[in-house]
Amino acid sequence: MTARTISDTIVTVYGGSGFLGRHVVRALAQRGYRVRAAVRRPELANHLQPLGRVGQIHAVQANIRDAASVAAAASGAHALVNLVGILFERGRQGFDAVHTRGAEQVALAASALGARMVHVSAIGADENSPALYARSKAAAERLVLSAQPTANIMRPSIIFGPEDDFFNRFAAMARISPALPLVGGGHTRFQPVFVGDVAAAIADAVEGKARSGTIYELGGPEVRTFKELMQFVLTTIERKRLLLPIPFFAARMQASVLQFMPRPLLTPDQVEQLRVDNVVSEAARAEQRTLQAFGIEPAPMEAIVPSYLWRFRKTGQFRSRAA
Ligand SMILES: NC(=O)c1ccc[n+]([C@@H]2O[C@H](COP(=O)([O-])OP(=O)(O)OC[C@H]3O[C@@H](n4cnc5c(N)ncnc54)[C@H](OP(=O)(O)O)[C@@H]3O)[C@@H](O)[C@H]2O)c1
Repeated sequence: MTARTISDTIVTVYGGSGFLGRHVVRALAQRGYRVRAAVRRPELANHLQPLGRVGQIHAVQANIRDAASVAAAASGAHALVNLVGILFERGRQGFDAVHTRGAEQVALAASALGARMVHVSAIGADENSPALYARSKAAAERLVLSAQPTANIMRPSIIFGPEDDFFNRFAAMARISPALPLVGGGHTRFQPVFVGDVAAAIADAVEGKARSGTIYELGGPEVRTFKELMQFVLTTIERKRLLLPIPFFAARMQASVLQFMPRPLLTPDQVEQLRVDNVVSEAARAEQRTLQAFGIEPAPMEAIVPSYLWRFRKTGQFRSRAA
């Protein structure tokens, strides 16, 4: 039998069509892997192909809630990467079904194949959290490690990059709204991490550079409160807006109405998540379960976010990006 080369080594990426997904697909393609993006609607994943050489990346249909499609997408793969996640529940897309049971199916497929698995969770994953999102992520970690004990788990803080849903969303809100809300006064701490750094750590783990069965916590170089992040957005887009503190109980009441929007600005579960800081733990730092373990020096948000928020400036459309 001939030895397998990297160019015929398949890595299946569940959720490859998402924000983090496209960066992971690109990072794996750049390292020479054949990438199989397992997505619900392959016809909407054409944007992935230009991220690699002709024929290097292709999309297959899989729904993480359907075990047979998860297993079919895994067939013949050397590693499985699970990036599937949701921010709010809708119909059959519940946290338990998607985050917990879905992740378990990927781990069972990895175990059956003897494939490496990299699973993306989130900082704050905690089976005792008041937030269902955080509980479902923690339960997923437990089930993944039970089905595939060698799996690597990545818990990022909030991720930034050109297509992110955080800085872009608040910059867009600042364009039309006279105020930005500060839930609980905006004191929750975050450690924003660059999407390229998270993708590089995942690709390193696929290459076998992570410690077996280990949970990594991925954060950027700075810890900032939510209020400081909103101030950063406003300074970057050169707009003045009121920063409006909203007590947790009032935010919950507003969220109980907002949650019914097609793409809710805030849900009661997200209000619960904001009660807890979203930063790399002391334990993860002490045990070197961070980006630094991969030799990655995390990029600061100041160096990257202005390059894509410039379009939200009042005069953004008239300025060159270099200005
Ligand atoms: N972005 C952050 O700041 C952040 C922070 C911490 C952790 N994370 C975690 O990182 C992972 C990736 O996040 P992201 O920001 O890239 O999210 P995203 O852009 O929303 O991507 C999520 C992906 O999951 C897919 N998906 C949803 N339900 C599915 C299902 N039933 N079956 C198969 N695929 C399904 C989506 O595909 P469709 O197009 O089919 O919906 C999409 O490709 C998630 O696990 C998330 O919890 C993200």
